[in-house]
Amino acid sequence: MVIKMKIIKAKDYNDMSRKAANIISAQVIMKPDCVLGLATGSTPVGTYAQLVDWYNKGDLDFSGITTVNLDEYKGLTKENDQSYYYFMHEHLFGKVNVKPERTFLPDGTEPDSDKACSDYNKVIADVGGVDLQLLGLGHNGHIGFNEPSEIFEAETHCVDLTESTIKANQRFFASIDEVPRQAYTMGIKTIMQAKKILVVVSGADKAAIVKEAFFGPITPKVPASVLQLHNDVTVVADEAALSELK
Ligand code: F6R
Repeated sequence: MVIKMKIIKAKDYNDMSRKAANIISAQVIMKPDCVLGLATGSTPVGTYAQLVDWYNKGDLDFSGITTVNLDEYKGLTKENDQSYYYFMHEHLFGKVNVKPERTFLPDGTEPDSDKACSDYNKVIADVGGVDLQLLGLGHNGHIGFNEPSEIFEAETHCVDLTESTIKANQRFFASIDEVPRQAYTMGIKTIMQAKKILVVVSGADKAAIVKEAFFGPITPKVPASVLQLHNDVTVVADEAALSELK
């Protein structure tokens, strides 16, 4: 039986963020010791801000949760303000009561890619898998840093970022030369093993890839298309991102 992914239409970015934060907060309330898979990038910033707001109001408690992030740039230290570690601290970890020792990202400072990846696979296995995985959607259909490819990579691996991803991420760096060329990312199998998946998408510039990824053929050339095979995916997208769908 094919289970259709749920698509929740939000009015705009703020509405998308609130709806996504509601789904995450329901997960934390229902299972206070859950494992959340987390994403960086622009799209989830508002979702994290909403969660922080509810935490400040006393409505949410993160003290029992564990987090595993999707990815990290290879070569950036935790102190580098472009590292995903830094991002998570700025937007969530430093603002709520999650236990620092229960937050995990691939180690960007580990130069040995095989070691970094196998260490991270072990972390994910040790925490017992992901209950709810939050994902953004790249313009080329990437999820995590699983870039378009001939194959779906199963587990954590080191990727060469594509030109389009390097250009998209350039906005965060002083110059394009400073954008790292490689990253460590969770693989497709690990993402697909999450019990639930929540995808957040915003903006007209994502409308074409939303249609292609969620209604086009399932292919590693559009990595997010594999999500069509997962039986519990919710996409929360604003009207602009859904504008190419009937
Ligand atoms: C971030 C990540 C990426 C982003 C994607 C969309 O951890 O893994 O896949 O989710 O590049 O980024 P934004 O939200 O900046 O459009």
